[in-house]
Amino acid sequence: MIKLTDNISFIGKIDWERRTFHGEQMSTNEGSSFNAYFIKDEKNVVIDGVYKPFADEYIADIEENIGIENIDYIIALHAEPDHSSALLNLLELRPDIPIYCTAKGVESLKGYYHKEWNFKVIKTGDTLKLGNGTLTFIECPFLHWPDQMIVYYDIDKIIFSSDIFGQHYSTAFLYDNKVDKSRLEYEALKYYANIVSPFSSLVIKKLDEISKFNLDIKLIAPSHGVIWTNSEYILGKYTEWANTYAEEQVILVYDSMYGSTRRMAEYIAEGISEAKPNLCVKIFSLATADESDVVTEAFRSKAVLVGSPTYNGGLLTSVAGFLEELKGIKTKNKKAAAFGSYGWAAVSVKIINERLKAANFEVFEDANFNTTCNWRPNNDKANLLRNFGIAFANAL
Ligand code: FEO
Repeated sequence: MIKLTDNISFIGKIDWERRTFHGEQMSTNEGSSFNAYFIKDEKNVVIDGVYKPFADEYIADIEENIGIENIDYIIALHAEPDHSSALLNLLELRPDIPIYCTAKGVESLKGYYHKEWNFKVIKTGDTLKLGNGTLTFIECPFLHWPDQMIVYYDIDKIIFSSDIFGQHYSTAFLYDNKVDKSRLEYEALKYYANIVSPFSSLVIKKLDEISKFNLDIKLIAPSHGVIWTNSEYILGKYTEWANTYAEEQVILVYDSMYGSTRRMAEYIAEGISEAKPNLCVKIFSLATADESDVVTEAFRSKAVLVGSPTYNGGLLTSVAGFLEELKGIKTKNKKAAAFGSYGWAAVSVKIINERLKAANFEVFEDANFNTTCNWRPNNDKANLLRNFGIAFANAL
C-alpha cells in the first residue's frame, strides 16, 4: 500500500513485464499498471481490484495494511477482468461487502463470476456519505464498456476515472509530474487512439456532462498509469482527441513481399514531401512496425495511405488486419488512398479502397493516376507515383 494523501492509498499493482493487453491485441511497450485505491474515512472503501495474476499480492496487501474485516464498501468502477478478477478473491473472504456499481456492472460481474453478491446499484448523481467526505457517482456508459462509471471524492477533490484518462505506462512514480512528459503524452494518446477513440462522440457529451457537476478537480486517478495532477491537460487533450483531430502528418502503411509495394510507398512519399515540405511524412511496414503504434500514428494524421500487393486474390493479412483496426477506431475527417503491386490480377487497391470507405475515410482517387503496379515499378511508374503523391498532398 502506498499512501497518496491523508485519506487515500494506492493498493494496485504495477506490471513492469506486460507487453500486450486485451490478449495480444494491443501492445503495451512501457508495461502497465492495474490501479486500485483505498479511501480511509469513517468508512473504509476499496476502489477496484487488480488483474488475476496479482490477486494474491492484492489480498496480502489489504490483509497487512487494512484488514479484510475492516472494509465497508467496494466500488467496482468497471467489470473488465483486469480490474475485477481479484475482487473475486476478496469477496470469497468477505462475500457480504456491499459492491457499488452500475446496473450494467451487476450484469457484467454476474456474467463473469456467476455470484449473487451484495450489489448496490448506483445512478448518475447518487452520493455515498463516508463520514467526513462524500462520494459522487457519474455513470459513463461505453467509455469504454457499458458498465463504466467514475466517482468523485470531495475531501481530496479527486476523480477515480476508471479506464478513462488511462495510459499503459509502468513507473515507480505515481504522478504525471514525475515522469518523462513526452513518453506520458504519447502513452495517453496511444491509449485514447486504440481504446477510447471508437467512443469519441460519447466522450464529448460526457465531458460536457461532467463539467455541469462543477466539481473542483485537483486529481484524476485512472485505473492504468499515472495520476494526473495536471487535470486540465488531460481534460483538454480528451476534448481535442474526441473532436476532429489531426496533426500536420501523413502516413503510408504497407506490407510487401519482394519490395515492389514498398518502393511504391517511397515514391508516393517523395511526391507528398515535394508538394508539402513541412508536412510530416512517415512510412510504416506492417511486417516490422508495432501495429498499435501505427494505429496511434493513423489517429494523429490528416491522411493515411495504405498499400498491399495482391495476394491470393486479396490482401496480405497484415494489411487486412490493420484496415480492420482502422475501421474500429472510427476516425473522422481523414483522407486516404490505396496503392499496391500485383502479378496477374490487380485486386488489392480496389479492396483497400472499399475498406477505407467502410472505415469512414474520404478516399482520394484520380483516373490520371493508376496506383496499381504490375510486378515492379519502372521509371515511368515511379514518376507517376511521385505525381500522385503531389496530387494527393495538394488535395489535403
Ligand atoms: Fe482496464 Fe477496460 O479495463
